[in-house]
Amino acid sequence: LAPQDLAGRTVVVSAGGTREPLDPVRFLGNRSSGRQGAAIAREAACRGARVTLLAASIDEAARRAAQHPAVDVVEVETTRELADAVDTATADADVLVMAAAVADFRPATTAERKIKKDGSAPQAVELVENPDILATVAHRERERLVVVGFAAETGDADEVLELGRAKARRKGADLLAVNAVGQGRGFGAVANAVTVLDGAGEVVGEAAGSKDDVARGLWDLVVPRLR
Ligand code: C5P
Repeated sequence: LAPQDLAGRTVVVSAGGTREPLDPVRFLGNRSSGRQGAAIAREAACRGARVTLLAASIDEAARRAAQHPAVDVVEVETTRELADAVDTATADADVLVMAAAVADFRPATTAERKIKKDGSAPQAVELVENPDILATVAHRERERLVVVGFAAETGDADEVLELGRAKARRKGADLLAVNAVGQGRGFGAVANAVTVLDGAGEVVGEAAGSKDDVARGLWDLVVPRLR
């Protein structure tokens, strides 16, 4: 049986990948399945928390994995919808885990009707920057809320760690779980491995194995930091 070390706590987890519409049928998106976030949500529920899972286009396996009476699923599509849902759901929460892959940019405009080929040169897509949800919440809510981020990076182990350290310092989260992606790792893969850094970029732990193992390891590091 799971330890009940999140009993009475309220937890918000984002999972999946945001989608930014180009027109009614097309979007800019990413390969996140939502399975790591779903495993984190489920593990929190098993440990006694009430959980809101903010689901940005998660796949069927993730949806099944998150099924638990204490997990409420809220569907979102775009980064701005996710930002609003985070604000609402964290109003009385103890922990926010941002496991979703959030689009850093969105198309400057969304066409009302399907974009057509018209024989002329293809159009360039103009992008504008999205708000950084994690950094915004981390800098605003430090006192009450434990904020946990993920950083998916490509490169060898040293490069991934260095990128993670810089990001940990920049984002201001309590914890940042850094993982290498690409070449069959991370997004959509079955197993995962993360190095967990604190806000100063120091390594505070590792978690590896199935996405459930990573979820357990992550909560073991979060629980001692609860306010
Ligand atoms: O900067 P990068 O996208 O790699 O940071 C990853 C972390 O920041 C993840 O936890 C992700 O959910 C979060 N993020 C966010 N808002 C963004 C971009 C990323 O909350 N616009």
